[in-house]
Amino acid sequence: MKILLIGSGGREHALAWKINQSPLCDQLICAPGNAGICEITDCVNIKADDVGALVKFALREAVNFVVVGPEVPLALGLVDELTQQGIAVFGPTEAAAMLESSKAFTKDFCTRHDIPTAKYDVFTNALEAKAYLGDMTAPFVIKADGLAAGKGVVIAETKAEAETELDEFFSDEPGGGKFGDAGDCVLIEEFMTGHEISFFALADGKTVLPLIAAQDHKRAYDGDKGPNTGGMGAYSPVPGFDDERRILDEILIPTVIGMASEGYPFTGVLFAGLMMTKEGPKLIEYNVRFGDPECQVLMRRLNSDLLEMMIFAAKGKLADVGKVEWSPNAVVNVVVAAKGYPGSYAKGETIKGVEAANLMDGVQVFHAGTKRAEDGALLSAGGRVLNITAEGKTVAQAVKRAYAAIDEAIDWPGGFVRRDIAKQALK
Ligand code: AMP
Ligand code: GLY
Repeated sequence: MKILLIGSGGREHALAWKINQSPLCDQLICAPGNAGICEITDCVNIKADDVGALVKFALREAVNFVVVGPEVPLALGLVDELTQQGIAVFGPTEAAAMLESSKAFTKDFCTRHDIPTAKYDVFTNALEAKAYLGDMTAPFVIKADGLAAGKGVVIAETKAEAETELDEFFSDEPGGGKFGDAGDCVLIEEFMTGHEISFFALADGKTVLPLIAAQDHKRAYDGDKGPNTGGMGAYSPVPGFDDERRILDEILIPTVIGMASEGYPFTGVLFAGLMMTKEGPKLIEYNVRFGDPECQVLMRRLNSDLLEMMIFAAKGKLADVGKVEWSPNAVVNVVVAAKGYPGSYAKGETIKGVEAANLMDGVQVFHAGTKRAEDGALLSAGGRVLNITAEGKTVAQAVKRAYAAIDEAIDWPGGFVRRDIAKQALK
């Protein structure tokens, strides 16, 4: 089969690496890819959000199957367009992608289907939102409804701080608030306490096929300090995690059944961000794609054929997939980001040592924001730049190997890492 993979991050490098191993894959093309992806497969320079150009390319090249990595093309209806053209695709339709693209939709959906989540209300103006703060206790969780690249959530410690935030979320002009259109509708939620975890599953419109849990590290700096990022590292398995049955029965299965019953059958990856509270698992949010940096860890532990599972999902035949096989080993992913990320940062800096890192025991580097200079040098081209993944018999061994690669092989003075990825799993 001829496969087209959409995206350019570390997630897509890991997906490309895994899809390439499938006996079903004769040719893989990635749009637009990055320097690491271009080393292992063909890349075509079409942006991930250029739906028209992607569909045209898939038709012209007679692509048999499309895999969509990031959320933006899903929310723009890429799956709907490809399906209309008769091209098979793995991912949710624009309507089903509302589970990620509208937090208000998802919270109201949870209410309709009795799925455990934080108490909330939805507002379209600051006055009513501020009045609601009086019914809540600090800290206050304020969220933009739409896609905001992981930055649309503010946790305000005091009522005064929450009021200031609400003034910035809303504006007199539609789309004029600090998150643009994404913030025209704002949610205020109850603050949940507990341990956060990411759980992944595939769905085919009616059946849920559970994958595994992974732990992300969202804040930029050690000790969970600093601003929220897309994720600075991840690991799996998560020691002590034994809530899969409840997550399936109380959250994921009711979601897939509920979406089908409302007329939006969900096909693709369901990535549940969960808070493990005293009362049990509660949904923080859904994403409708693999997590980045979690995907890199999942792909290194997955022994089954990913492409085959995705094709079964697209055909509505996930029930026919047997047991998903995983490596018992631990995998850790440490993200190397450009200094300044998630704020402003330099691009075009030379990075050395990736080949040397790849030769080290258990280590594999997935690229994110990288590109090649004319002379072949590897250059930084984004905020998150490299993913140093390492496998080990234990989390401790995996952690040691990942940081050894960073310290002994990777040579990029403009980069930084968190030093405490997977630390809580070592206790
Ligand atoms: P989200 O983008 O919805 O996943 O939120 C980003 C982060 O904000 C989450 O990973 C949590 O750490 C935190 N968060 C979001 N909603 C809540 C909540 N209701 N209670 C406590 N923390 C929350
Ligand atoms: N790592 C979190 C995400 O991909 O949204």
